Amino acid sequence: MFADTKITLNNGVKIPRVQLGTWLMDNDEAKKMVKKSIEIGYRAFDTAKDYGNESGIGKGIWNSDIERSDIFLTTKLPTSVKDYEGTKQAIDKALQRFSLDYIDLLLIHSPQPWIEVNRTDNRYFEGNLENWRAMEEALKDGKVRAIGVSNFLQEDLENIIENGTITPAVNQIGVSIGNTPLPLIEYCQNKGITIEAYSPLSHGRFLKNETIVNYAKKYNVIPAQLMLKYDCQLGCIVLPKSTDLNELKEDRELDFEISPEDMVELQKLKF
Ligand SMILES: NC(=O)c1ccc[n+]([C@@H]2O[C@H](COP(=O)([O-])OP(=O)(O)OC[C@H]3O[C@@H](n4cnc5c(N)ncnc54)[C@H](OP(=O)(O)O)[C@@H]3O)[C@@H](O)[C@H]2O)c1
Repeated sequence: MFADTKITLNNGVKIPRVQLGTWLMDNDEAKKMVKKSIEIGYRAFDTAKDYGNESGIGKGIWNSDIERSDIFLTTKLPTSVKDYEGTKQAIDKALQRFSLDYIDLLLIHSPQPWIEVNRTDNRYFEGNLENWRAMEEALKDGKVRAIGVSNFLQEDLENIIENGTITPAVNQIGVSIGNTPLPLIEYCQNKGITIEAYSPLSHGRFLKNETIVNYAKKYNVIPAQLMLKYDCQLGCIVLPKSTDLNELKEDRELDFEISPEDMVELQKLKF
């Protein structure tokens, strides 16, 4: 089925198209949801130091019957760390929290520390290069299999591409019907950077939107499935989050195709 397919990143690593998002899950819930979602086919998990659930995710992976090599685990650096030594330590501490010896994909969570987002024009170019230098080393050392970024604008990406050694494999950004940053998506795709769509269901806010409901009816699917497939057809990986196993099953049922004409119309929507 479509949900079991993978995309090949720019360094050859294969990454599942549909992954479980885990923001706002605590350690206990994350442990439970990782184990249960594996039973219904999920093999990939998106977390971050700042979600506070890495040890729960690690336990969920350990408690499953799946080989570590069949799991794809993504985590993100704390946004407060923007120096080389701090980044090296953050990577080792993440591995300890997971009780694992490698992470599949490590991301810079944000070009700016959270407390400065929307409050300053400082894009932390030097700090992000310090992050990146330590991440490139972790890649060489086998601590991570791929490295990328999140919430990066074109100027942030250019800084890494021009001054780093390795082009990011991924940029994880918000993409959903009603919020389609096409120029950034196209810039990334032209550079060989895969887009991961976070909040692909707009955090649940627009699942009852009349336009989305009507398009979903046309394809005989539910709004969540329309929203997820839309992102996939833009070439993105999707990270739906739910704590309801039935919803998580629905989120993997994406074996339908939105017509090119409807994709164009959906791209125009702005909520
Ligand atoms: N890099 C970043 O800065 C960043 C930022 C935001 C998110 N993310 C990542 O992206 C993931 C997903 O984003 P998100 O957590 O904002 O939310 P989301 O996946 O856009 O939406 C989650 C909401 O959709 C509901 N839902 C899921 N499947 C459904 C279905 N089949 N039918 C009806 N409702 C359904 C969930 O319900 P219940 O939970 O109530 O069951 C929840 O309310 C995060 O968990 C995180 O891993 C990353």
